[in-house]
Amino acid sequence: MTEVFDPAPLFRPLTLPTFELPNRIVMSAMTREFAPGGILDTAAAEYYARRVEGGAALVITEGTSIGHPVSHHTAKVPHFYGADALAAWKGVVERVHAAGGRIFPQLWHTGLYRLRDETANPDDMNIAPSQVGRFPSRPMTENDIADVIAAFAEAARAAREIGFDGVAIHGAHGYLIDQFLWPRTNRRTDAYGGSAENRVRFGVEVVKAVRAAIGPNFPLLLRISQWKGNLYGQELAKTPAELEELLVPFAEAGVDIFDASMRRFWLPEFDGSPMNLAGWAKKLTGKLTMAVGSVGLEGPLDGIRVSEQSATAVSIDNLRALVEMMDRGDFDLVGVGRNLLANPDWPQIVARGEFERLRPYDPARTAALLEPSLGN
Ligand SMILES: Cc1cc2nc3c(=O)[nH]c(=O)nc-3n(C[C@H](O)[C@H](O)[C@H](O)COP(=O)(O)O)c2cc1C
Repeated sequence: MTEVFDPAPLFRPLTLPTFELPNRIVMSAMTREFAPGGILDTAAAEYYARRVEGGAALVITEGTSIGHPVSHHTAKVPHFYGADALAAWKGVVERVHAAGGRIFPQLWHTGLYRLRDETANPDDMNIAPSQVGRFPSRPMTENDIADVIAAFAEAARAAREIGFDGVAIHGAHGYLIDQFLWPRTNRRTDAYGGSAENRVRFGVEVVKAVRAAIGPNFPLLLRISQWKGNLYGQELAKTPAELEELLVPFAEAGVDIFDASMRRFWLPEFDGSPMNLAGWAKKLTGKLTMAVGSVGLEGPLDGIRVSEQSATAVSIDNLRALVEMMDRGDFDLVGVGRNLLANPDWPQIVARGEFERLRPYDPARTAALLEPSLGN
């Protein structure tokens, strides 16, 4: 703990087409379910602004439901459609901007993994690329595909209109876009299934429609991951060549930043190179990339919901590895999840080297943050 540690690479500015970020630290997308009926609690603006005041340069919001009848994870996840929901989001944007931060909404369709019994319309069947395993669902028709693509594009257009600084598309963790990418959940025999080119088609069409809706210079981030849901050992791409087949079409369709969601950022993605998924995404596409996964924490994410997660100790050692990887040019941005819940001013604490002030991640405490003091 006493070894000299220079966090400077985390605190270098980064220029994007439309603005400059003062440092590399991004609040990672985290569902908090403080939106009963789909309308975000007004206190959420304070919750996000607090992380910006603590030094995060950019916020990726919690996953938000696009305007499609069966996109929602649960009824407490905020909508990204409808006048009331968008007005609540506008309040968040204004508060985050007043704090000097930037913010992208994470646009989400859960597909097969929609928690149907916890949604407002449990009688409506989940949709998915194909019917698989124990999850009842309806294979998507071409009309369904067109409707979902239009809903993503409409949400992105709304994001720009209400003042967001960019958009983030959830293409990871086994949700709808990822369900198309992964052969185990995509058994289609039409143009959207089979070869990598076909499996990436749906996501690429989403990105193209979003790009058309937001124009050429508005930042577009796409989240990707190897792991699915709570199936942490799964792999989308087993080799760099397989990864390239999936990521290059996304880059060509208009992605500016790949958000590589890992569970332990320091682990090499493929044999023969120390690079992680963010490193490979950068090498293969030439785009900006973000690394996420246990930054400054010992234990990896082990549950989708706070109630399923374990408490985890702080790690300073892995921050040294992080800075080395950034200095080597492996990736451009660093996503921080649980550490920013436990420590809203995590970036400032790290910048000042006041590591003894860091609190470990405690899901019980995080759950209590929901009410009554979201602003903590
Ligand atoms: C409470 C909680 C909710 C999350 N919700 C989302 C989500 O809505 N969308 C998403 O892409 N990732 C979600 N994640 C994953 C985080 O964005 C991040 O990738 C993960 O926590 C690993 O980063 P960390 O080790 O710094 O926490 C969530 C994580 C947590 C802890």
